[in-house]
Amino acid sequence: MNIKNICCIGAGYVGGPTMAVVAQKCPHIKVTIVDINASRIAAWNNQDLSKLPVFEPGLDKIVGEARGRNLFFSTDIDQAIDEADMIFMSVNTPTKTYGKGKGMAADLKYIELCARQIARVSKSDKIVVEKSTLPVRTASAIKNILEHTGNGVKFQILSNPEFLAEGTAVQDLLNPDRVLIGGDTTDAGQKAIQALVDVYANWVPKERILTTNVWSSELSKLTANAFLAQRVSSINALSQLCEKSGADVHEVSKAIGMDSRIGSKFLKASVGFGGSCFQKDILNLVYIAKTYGLNEVADYWEQVILMNEHQKNRFSDNIVTTLYNTVSGKKITFLGWAFKKDTNDTRESPAIQVADNLLSERAHISVYDPKVVEERIYADLDYLNTRSSEENRALLQVSNDPYTASKASHAIAVLTEWDEFKTYDWQKIYDQMQKPAFVFDGRGILDTKALEKIGFVCYKIGSGS
Ligand code: UDX
Ligand code: ADP
Repeated sequence: MNIKNICCIGAGYVGGPTMAVVAQKCPHIKVTIVDINASRIAAWNNQDLSKLPVFEPGLDKIVGEARGRNLFFSTDIDQAIDEADMIFMSVNTPTKTYGKGKGMAADLKYIELCARQIARVSKSDKIVVEKSTLPVRTASAIKNILEHTGNGVKFQILSNPEFLAEGTAVQDLLNPDRVLIGGDTTDAGQKAIQALVDVYANWVPKERILTTNVWSSELSKLTANAFLAQRVSSINALSQLCEKSGADVHEVSKAIGMDSRIGSKFLKASVGFGGSCFQKDILNLVYIAKTYGLNEVADYWEQVILMNEHQKNRFSDNIVTTLYNTVSGKKITFLGWAFKKDTNDTRESPAIQVADNLLSERAHISVYDPKVVEERIYADLDYLNTRSSEENRALLQVSNDPYTASKASHAIAVLTEWDEFKTYDWQKIYDQMQKPAFVFDGRGILDTKALEKIGFVCYKIGSGS
């Protein structure tokens, strides 16, 4: 089967970049990305490519090339479904905030609405591809909805989890380690798998396209994220031991990373992991294990999350203790709010929890992030519901340059590893701060020896003194 028309439901951090790359690499396929959020679609259609709703290095160029040629952004979901041979579901699957599985299971409300809409609108056979991270066996639930509410047309469900990391999405999509496609073992299932393999084969070498059954594919996504997050929690656990014992976690990371069995990636100690996937996917895994009665399995993975919570809390506790046990009325400057560099995404960013802890101690916070807008920062804090939004606005200010943000502050805390932080005129920053001037480097990116020469008192995550 030759795919000519693809529709993607959900124009977010996954759907947007993924489908932009599909369109760029497959000029013979019409790709339409739809979303219920009209302002998001308007932003994707913005003539000014620096104003796309998702910031990813290189994405503006790809959208600029394909948009209007074979890549379209629209709010007309029904029309896009009707015209497509293949439909990607890339809607959000947040952790449930209510009912059974609250705080753990994935909320499949958006997926279900999406499936019902596909069933209602479709007048011809379609291949439906799960792109969003979903708990194991969701495909069969989607299949049920499609088959029981549809117009008698045939649907094939594939699982094609996305492994792109934000900040490197374009590179990850252009040159993936592997593409995973799960589908039915029936003839029709195998044909659908082949149709999707053919789409990727336009730019991905065949040996990197892996096909499995649907459940292996769904579970592989959760497992990959759980393993990666586990590495971060493992090195973060060691970072505290290094600080106490006088070892340096950066040296330990290098030493163990050179063991080819361990490998060097994902061993950077940090203030904690964030992002839309790690926590959500592990909670999901924990919930699935619990529903099968596998309590030891559930506890094992849950510890990765608990370690991450601890890492964020001990970072803010350390700021309070170092600033003579009180930060009340003191100004603390945050460099970075995004959950990692090169993205404007802030979901589960450790900065949010650290800020919330310090605001509860009545600190005044001033934030500078190169890509995150002010409204997002306030929305993140308001969402926690710890204090009124008026209080959040009174206690926390957002600046659009780092020198204004650090003026008269008592301490600087690095929450995101943006490269530009390393290039600042740190003498100028020191001169305008309160003394003693403290730096808390939660990402281990600054040259603390040089800063100490200027006069700063430095804390670097994982470095014992
Ligand atoms: C992750 C997976 O990497 C990706 O394959 C999947 O598709 C989605 O989830 P993402 O959340 O975009 O991607 O970012 P990732 O690079 O994995 O980083 C997650 C968090 O871990 C970030 O907050 C990052 O700063 C932190 N991290 C990562 C560390 O603290 N130390 C490290 O060594 C690596
Ligand atoms: P991700 O990181 O997985 O891409 P996002 O939250 O960035 O997650 O994007 C998901 C997108 O899906 C949002 O823009 C949201 O408006 C959209 N969405 C959710 N439900 C539907 C739906 N039923 N129809 C169309 N779009 C939807």
